[in-house]
Amino acid sequence: MSKQGKDFSKYFDFTGARVLKEEEGKTTYRINGRDITVNAAPNYKEEKRRGKEAIQVHYETATPPELMELGKGKLYHITTYGCQMNEHDTEVMKGMFEQMGYAPTEDRNEADVILLNTCAIRENAEDKVFGELGHLKHLKIEKPGLILGVCGCMSQEESVVSRIMQKHSFVDLIFGTHNIHRLPYLLQDALFSKEMVVEVWSKEGDIIENLPKKREGMRGWVNIMYGCDKFCTYCIVPYTRGKERSRRPEDVIAEVRELARQGFKEITLLGQNVNAYGKDFEDLNYRFGDLMADMAKIDIPRIRFTTSHPRDFDDHLIEVLATRGNLVEHIHLPVQSGSTEVLKRMSRKYTREMFLELVAKIKRAIPDAILTTDIIVGFPGETDEQFEETLSLVQEVGFSSAYTFIYSPRVGTPAADMEDNIPEAVKKARLARLNRIIEDLSRESNEAEVGRTVEILVEGVSKNNANVLSGRTRTNKLVHIEGPVEWIGQFIEAKVTEAKSWYLKAEPVLEYRMEEAVS
Ligand code: SAH
Ligand code: SF4
Ligand code: F3S
Repeated sequence: MSKQGKDFSKYFDFTGARVLKEEEGKTTYRINGRDITVNAAPNYKEEKRRGKEAIQVHYETATPPELMELGKGKLYHITTYGCQMNEHDTEVMKGMFEQMGYAPTEDRNEADVILLNTCAIRENAEDKVFGELGHLKHLKIEKPGLILGVCGCMSQEESVVSRIMQKHSFVDLIFGTHNIHRLPYLLQDALFSKEMVVEVWSKEGDIIENLPKKREGMRGWVNIMYGCDKFCTYCIVPYTRGKERSRRPEDVIAEVRELARQGFKEITLLGQNVNAYGKDFEDLNYRFGDLMADMAKIDIPRIRFTTSHPRDFDDHLIEVLATRGNLVEHIHLPVQSGSTEVLKRMSRKYTREMFLELVAKIKRAIPDAILTTDIIVGFPGETDEQFEETLSLVQEVGFSSAYTFIYSPRVGTPAADMEDNIPEAVKKARLARLNRIIEDLSRESNEAEVGRTVEILVEGVSKNNANVLSGRTRTNKLVHIEGPVEWIGQFIEAKVTEAKSWYLKAEPVLEYRMEEAVS
């Protein structure tokens, strides 16, 4: 590395910034009275680049022995926003904190380190984080020794890092999604330098194995791949998460086997587009269908996956899923829009007809499969007719539920340059209409379950009623059931007695309980 500092001024709005120090590729600035050391800064152009860097898999432990005591007697707290990918990154960071001797706390007032693991997918996700920073400022004033960090997808955005450096200078640490394994070093720097430390790599991304993970409960997330190469025109993820890269099958299989050994009951395989798994292996012809076939051989009751992109959903995968066993009958298949024209402008690379054909294939192979989806309304230029096409597709497929969103322009994405010509009121009205239809479909799908006997994995006590347990069917439907807390973590056979829009009520099947009691 050069002894010279790097000039980061092209990355940010550097109004009022003064260079204090340059060394070893790092540059320290003084901005509005705060010293800020930048090791690396986000850059959209670099984040968009694909194919230049070879992916490397690193098998190393994150925490060096000399940092194992860094957090002795201290408490950490992480607030997580966004998708399961972020939730799982939080589990990795918790693992690292605890390796450094930190203990967890739910109470931010007593924490010595607070991290916000952020999401950049829509504007309201970002607004929440900036709102939260406002609250945390007071805490920081009361407790100057507190280390306050921002990580996750928002840190990969130039505009966000710039805004924090200029306007939220009480933040101590900003690091990106490619820098998670560097947490112990960055924390040490922030603690001892008293400067704000910024390290956001804009790499295509490597794979870091052997990081510690702190999982809780009976359900575990396992990354099978990272990043995304699809570049849907509205989406920021390919910029914030780097290129599509798959973990080696042997590493995934070993991790799932170990979780089975530890008694986990359900595994969700994670990726932005799990169907692209293995496409990046140069030495191996092994795809997602092959991985699922190997998962089916592991002694763990349920295997799920999220998310699948319709484009790479191949016949072999459908064939493997149809063998069932521990592979559950639920597929989350984001469609985004029912209009071929809109899909084209979104660069989803499939048509309405192709999507319907895929659904038909899945239903032929797995007639009782439950399908759920994601939909965006109010994409630039979406006409009333095109929106109607979304409604008709939703009804034709009969999705059991859906995450629905109003389009939110993201700086740096192609759609942000398209004319956003749909009035806010129209977007809201479309969302409300869509949601009513989804609610009806969800209730219908739930009503079809009444009278059936289902297997429930009991996850905990219901959020709204302490006397009721809540769990999930294989198809991921939420079920409320009365029973003792000892059932938490167990599978219970139950008969569905009532259907609500968003959940089922069920009663345990008695014979099953007696059998359990005897064995
Ligand atoms: N990789 C997944 C999606 C991850 S993001 C997939 O391709 O299916 C989760 C959902 O957020 C997306 O499916 C999309 O419906 C929504 N989304 C993404 N970018 C958005 C934006 N700019 N505005 C509104 N919704 C968006
Ligand atoms: Fe975003 Fe599309 Fe990638 Fe999903 S597939 S993460 S929507 S770019
Ligand atoms: Fe949000 Fe990043 Fe996930 S933008 S949805 S946390 S990949």
